[in-house]
Amino acid sequence: MLEVKKVSKSYRSNTVLTDVSFHMQQGECLGLIGESGSGKSTIAKLILGLDQYDSGQIILNNFDFNQLKGRELRKARRHVQIVFQDPSASLNPKLPIWKSVIEPLENYPEVIPAFLKEVRKDRRKMAEILLEKVGLHSSLLDRYPHQLSGGQRQRVAIARGISLQPSLLICDELTSSLDVSIQAQILNLLKELKSEVNISYLFISHDIATVQYMCERIAVLKEGMLVDLFSSKDLFSENRHPYTEKLVEAALE
Ligand SMILES: Nc1ncnc2c1ncn2[C@@H]1O[C@H](COP(=O)(O)OP(=O)(O)OP(=O)(O)O)[C@@H](O)[C@H]1O
Ligand SMILES: [Mg+2]
Repeated sequence: MLEVKKVSKSYRSNTVLTDVSFHMQQGECLGLIGESGSGKSTIAKLILGLDQYDSGQIILNNFDFNQLKGRELRKARRHVQIVFQDPSASLNPKLPIWKSVIEPLENYPEVIPAFLKEVRKDRRKMAEILLEKVGLHSSLLDRYPHQLSGGQRQRVAIARGISLQPSLLICDELTSSLDVSIQAQILNLLKELKSEVNISYLFISHDIATVQYMCERIAVLKEGMLVDLFSSKDLFSENRHPYTEKLVEAALE
């Protein structure tokens, strides 16, 4: 589904990513950890096609974004969506919730995901179904972002993220701003959605325990280089990279 091959990226003279390679299967959750500034969000940006890489290749569903332009690029881009740490960043404060939720569908009127086919003529009903999918009541449809709690806003952002049924949803520090019990609810919601809509997650986080809980495999980024990539069950195994061990120790302190 996703293939990242020897991708490098610099901003002026600052090298941010060096020869990063990994792949993802459809339906998989891959965790991406590493300290602040290691290049995690930059990888997300490149996969989304929001920025160009200097060398290497990123292929999503057989599309190479760096080779596409105009309409073709637009078409390919809908297969990947992102949810950020701060849901306010993706929700327009002036739009009622239901409009924010279906905004991606307005941008791609030719796309109707299977789970919305029955209500294809009714945008508001689509928003209602999407809210239901993320565990929110239809009474929130006409509210505005500031009238919701942080956890509810994050659910709205997720509803919006899955509205086009992308192959890949990138979750960049998705739950960092939420308190622990709400975090757990959101993580479980993501797990349910994964089996329900066959979506893959690139799950970026500082929190190793969360990543281990969510993901089948974990990739470790250090100063723009992928130093370790392993199955989550091998997190404590002996052949982990010393840097991974350091991160684990720091997390246990
Ligand atoms: N548009 C840009 N122009 C110049 N430098 C940038 C740009 N975007 C990112 N960088 C630099 O790239 C490096 C990696 O940033 P990135 O946001 O990918 O880190 P991160 O791993 O996501 O960190 P955090 O955990 O704090 O979110 C940083 O040194 C950052 O300053
Ligand atoms: Mg980041």
